[in-house]
Amino acid sequence: MDKRARFLAALARQPVDRPPVWLMRQAGRYLPGYRAVRAEHGFWDVCHTPELSTRVALEPLKKFPLDAAIVFSDILIVPEALGAGVTFEKGEGPVFERTMRSRDDLKQWNTTGLMERLAFMPNAVRHLAKTLAGSHGILGFAGAPFTLFAYSVEGGGSDDFRHARAMLTTDPGLARDAMNLFADAIAELCLAQLAAGADAVQLFDTWGGLLDKADYRAFAVPALNRAAATIRKAGKPVILFIKGGMHLLEVIKDIEVDGVSLDWRTSYSEARAALPGKLLQGQLDPVLLFGSEAAVRERTRAVLDEINRLPGGPGGCIVNLGHGILPQTPETNVAALVDEVVRWRA
Ligand code: CP3
Repeated sequence: MDKRARFLAALARQPVDRPPVWLMRQAGRYLPGYRAVRAEHGFWDVCHTPELSTRVALEPLKKFPLDAAIVFSDILIVPEALGAGVTFEKGEGPVFERTMRSRDDLKQWNTTGLMERLAFMPNAVRHLAKTLAGSHGILGFAGAPFTLFAYSVEGGGSDDFRHARAMLTTDPGLARDAMNLFADAIAELCLAQLAAGADAVQLFDTWGGLLDKADYRAFAVPALNRAAATIRKAGKPVILFIKGGMHLLEVIKDIEVDGVSLDWRTSYSEARAALPGKLLQGQLDPVLLFGSEAAVRERTRAVLDEINRLPGGPGGCIVNLGHGILPQTPETNVAALVDEVVRWRA
């Protein structure tokens, strides 16, 4: 099977010779080719320029026999295009110039012409698709409404996102309105990426795991379903990633997404039992890649064997990490992981 055919078959939950593999943040700072581009261009410039975005997205494909590419961009392009003023300070993560803490703040968001301001992202997908010419699968993506809401209220990264989570009780109506606004924006953005050549889209709910079941069900799920209902009209799969979402499996079951990307603490067997019929992706620990090569190979084989033993068979599974590759990850271990998948046969 060629790479794209394997990726499309897995997405369609059809039989494959082996599960396809791609890695979250596969085009990140651990690659010298990425750092070289960043030495000459700002992060937003790379996102805004289809040629640079594609150049960076291709770096990992040149090094490792991955089955799919992910368009190079960021989830925070949406709050940035709404007017939040997002920058990345060295070592500090994202910083928002304007936070969303009141109804007035929400009114300040500029939704007029939003999709025109975000057109660079589907344009990057189109450029990537044209360059790859069918050699690899292509993933588009967006931030999930709760995670975009969390960053926008907090104004950057946080351990507990206390301002955002407090708003769920102090002004639940405002929180819902903001999440619905994000839901509509990401739905349109994902549709544009699918029309531009993406084979599937992934919604990143990186901070969704901070919520308990009741709050996830009450706040995150309605906005996710609102977005997913629109995106799925394109007839291509929607995959949801939640970091630390093992306590949410029972809630995730009822979300209208086609697939779920598992973090490293959620096993395929547990997920298959809790989410019958859903496409599953994941779930190797990104920190494993800082350990020995022997351990990387052994754990990768263990996940493949677990996938192969799943009730209902290994179809509909995509090998990935349980979160993004970290900066400074040794490339040799990334190569070892991908090599084990490529060589594996049932
Ligand atoms: O290969 C790929 O997956 C690259 C495309 C990609 C990036 N960000 C590039 C990026 C994707 C899919 C993302 C998603 C993203 N962005 C998420 C969800 C996934 C996750 O990791 O949980 C989140 C939470 C963000 C928000 C964000 N953007 C953060 C926290 C950071 C890092 C800040 C830091 O300095 O550590 C960014 C910036 C960013 N996005 C970088 C990259 C490669 C690093 C920017 C740089 O070059 O300095």
